[in-house]
Amino acid sequence: MEKQRSITFNQPCLVGKELVYIADAIKKQHASGDGYYTKACHGFFEEQFSVKKALLTTSCTHALELAAILCDIEPGDEVIVPSFTFTSTVNAFVLRGAIPIFCDVRADTKNIDETLVPQLITRRTKAIVPVHYAGVACEMDSLLQLAKAHGLFLIEDNAQGIFGNYRGQKLGTFGDFGALSFHETKNINCGEGGALFINNPNFVQRAEIIREKGTNRSQFFRGEVDKYGWVDVGSSFLPSDILAAYLWAQLEASTEINNKRKQIWETYYGELRNWAVRLGIGLPFVPEYVEQSYHMFYLVMPDLASRTDFIKHLNKRNIKAVFHYQALHNSPMGLKLGGKPGQCPISEKMSDQLVRLPFYNGLTELELEYICDSIKQFKMRECSTSPKGALAA
Ligand SMILES: Cc1ncc(COP(=O)(O)O)c(C=O)c1O
Repeated sequence: MEKQRSITFNQPCLVGKELVYIADAIKKQHASGDGYYTKACHGFFEEQFSVKKALLTTSCTHALELAAILCDIEPGDEVIVPSFTFTSTVNAFVLRGAIPIFCDVRADTKNIDETLVPQLITRRTKAIVPVHYAGVACEMDSLLQLAKAHGLFLIEDNAQGIFGNYRGQKLGTFGDFGALSFHETKNINCGEGGALFINNPNFVQRAEIIREKGTNRSQFFRGEVDKYGWVDVGSSFLPSDILAAYLWAQLEASTEINNKRKQIWETYYGELRNWAVRLGIGLPFVPEYVEQSYHMFYLVMPDLASRTDFIKHLNKRNIKAVFHYQALHNSPMGLKLGGKPGQCPISEKMSDQLVRLPFYNGLTELELEYICDSIKQFKMRECSTSPKGALAA
C-alpha cells in the first residue's frame, strides 16, 4: 500500500453542532457556570446514569479534588490507589495531606488488583480509589465489599470509562463518588472538562457548596434560601456554560461516537489478535461480564527494548504510537511519599511495555488498514537493546 499521510495518536472528535451551541450559550448571556447547557448535561447524566447528582467540573482532576474535600481527607490519612495511573488520581488526596498507599495492578486488565487491597488496609485508611483503566471495569463487587466492611470511601476514577459498565451497571455509579474526564483525549470531550457523580445522597448539598467557592449560591438560585453566603470551604470547580454547550453537542451524539470507537477497537483486535499471540505480545482483556467504553487500544510488548523499536518502526511509517503511565510508586514524587522500587512489579512492567495505538473517531478504514499492515511488518528480531527514543505520552 502507498504511504499514507501522517497518522497522529489522537484527534479530538467533533460532531458538528459544537459551534452552534457555543454561539447560543454566548447569546443567552449566561456564559458563567450552571447555565442552560450545564443543566442539560446534568439532566443527561442524572437520567441516563441514574445518579443522585451529577455536577460538571472544569476537569476530572478537579472532580477528584472535590471528592477528596467531601471525604474530609486529613493529613496522615491513607488512601489506596493503583500505581499504574495518572497523577491526578493521587494528587487530589495528597493535596489534602493524605499518604498514598500504592497497590499493584492486575496483569490482565491493568486495573487495581483487588486481591492485594485487604493487606494494605490499616486503621488510617480512609478511601480506595479504583481507576477503570482503558474503560474496562475494576472488580467492583470485591471493592465495594471491602469498602463497606472497613467503612471506607470508594471513589471511582472513571476518566476513561464513560458508558462502560460492570455487570450491567454503568461505571462511575458504584462508589460514593465517580469522576469523569472530558479532556480532548477522551471519548466525549469539550477540550478540558469533567464531572463528579455523587452517588451517596448524604453529600449532594455539600458537593454543590464546595464547587461554588464554599457558598450556598446553588440553593439561592433555586429559591431555597433568600440570600447566599460563605458556609463551608470550597473552590471554583464549575465550568463556563460555553464549555457545557460544547459538551452537550457531544452528549447528544454519544451513541454514534461510541459506536464508531467500538468499530475501531474491534478492527484492531480482529486484525492483530493472531499476529500478537504468535509473537507473544499482550492484548487488552475484557471480562465477559464487562462492557468496556472503547477508550483505547494497547499492546503489551515483551520488554522495553522491543517497545522502543516498535514505536520507532511505526514512526518511520508516519504512525504515532505512544506509551502510557509511568508507575507512580517509582516516580520522584511517589518515592518521596514512601513508594519503593519493585513494590508494584506489574505497574513497572506496564510502564516499560505497554504501547497505545492511534485511536480516534476520525480514523478512516484505509488508515486503520495501513496501521495494521505496518504493525504486522514489525519483526521482533528488529529489536535493538537501546531503550532510548521512546515517545512520551
Ligand atoms: C485515570 C485518569 N484520571 C484522571 C485524569 C485527569 O483528567 P483531566 O485531564 O480531565 O483532569 C486522567 C487524564 O487522562 C486519567 O487518565
